[in-house]
Amino acid sequence: MIDNPFVTNGYAGPEYFCDRVNETAMLTNLLTNGNNIALMSPRRVGKTDLMRHCFQQEVIKENYYCFLIDIYATNSLHDFVNVFGKSILDTLKSRGRKVWEGFLNALLSVRSEITYDINGYPVWGLGVGAMVPPQTTLDEIFAYLRTADKHCLVAIDEFQQILYYNDDKNVEAALRTQIQQCPNANFIFAGSQRHLMSEMFLSPSRPFYQSVVPMSLGLIPLDHYWEFAEPQFAKNGGRRITYDVVASVYQRFEGITANVQRIMNMLYMLTPKGERCTIEMIDRAIDTYLQLSSTYYEELLRQMPEKQRNVFLAIAAEGQAKSISGGKFVRKYNLPSTSSVVSAVRGLMEKDFVAQNENTYYVYDRFFQLWIEKR
Ligand SMILES: Nc1ncnc2c1ncn2[C@@H]1O[C@H](COP(=O)(O)OP(=O)(O)OP(=O)(O)O)[C@@H](O)[C@H]1O
Ligand SMILES: [Mg+2]
Repeated sequence: MIDNPFVTNGYAGPEYFCDRVNETAMLTNLLTNGNNIALMSPRRVGKTDLMRHCFQQEVIKENYYCFLIDIYATNSLHDFVNVFGKSILDTLKSRGRKVWEGFLNALLSVRSEITYDINGYPVWGLGVGAMVPPQTTLDEIFAYLRTADKHCLVAIDEFQQILYYNDDKNVEAALRTQIQQCPNANFIFAGSQRHLMSEMFLSPSRPFYQSVVPMSLGLIPLDHYWEFAEPQFAKNGGRRITYDVVASVYQRFEGITANVQRIMNMLYMLTPKGERCTIEMIDRAIDTYLQLSSTYYEELLRQMPEKQRNVFLAIAAEGQAKSISGGKFVRKYNLPSTSSVVSAVRGLMEKDFVAQNENTYYVYDRFFQLWIEKR
């Protein structure tokens, strides 16, 4: 049994979910009023959990089919339709035979490849659709969405990933067309690489321009986080924590939800039952976590191509690295040339090791940065 109420690995239900009251109401309202939404935010502030939380609201749960697909690991339209189809099938499985059969009946091109588990439930296996043009399967999935017996809500997480697909350069336009012709479904497109997402949705030359309501997710305000954290800390054993400790964690991690939750989880773990968490324990919590992550970060560094690693370490040494393609930065860190820095940074940003804010670059994972500083 896990008794730590600071959850660090995804949505665990409303009792572990902090605030987002207005955002949940807004998102729910927009969806139930037939809008498509582009949900954008910096990394790790809580887009995915917010979407899950919305799908758990009574009005939504009872009246819609909800599908959440994460396309972070997809590299082609082919992968996309597989993840999409599998997610729909997995969700519909619990809705009874008639419902999932309805879906399978729409899937003419791959229906024969669906297998069944020992309980007679359909399984969308790994190789499904390998010989079928993905556009065909996509058409069939949308044909299902158009005619499903309930209105469908589809959340596509890490949506910017479609820009990296190598088998179909027009995925953006193709999806836009499908979605426009599908009044029986509404969509949330969530993404984190801010410039890519905003380009896709806010620039007039792109297919999705003006077809969504853009919504940007901000940080959970400190006071709301405190109101959540204090009673959470007291759960399962009467531990106590004061405002200044929570405020200090929040400030040190710039209010990034995932990082704050991470340290709160550690602080809870390090505080004996019935005792009070003190501000000195924060450093110990951070150190404990860094020690635990050490092999992981070693490995990440080891796997980076050498050119990227050198630039990465240089950016980490700067903390907030400005004008990185200038001669000064190149000389200071003995890097080969400005052009190699530019291409290394591009690679680092694609893999989310480095993030950019206007013309400043920094290590995206705060803990990675701290680990390098202490190494
Ligand atoms: N409202 C919340 N209350 C408590 N914890 C939360 C909340 N929102 C997010 N978290 C925590 O932060 C972590 C990151 O949240 P989430 O994965 O939703 O962020 P994200 O914006 O989708 O991140 P990414 O950009 O990496 O996709 C979650 O695993 C969870 O531990
Ligand atoms: Mg996410």
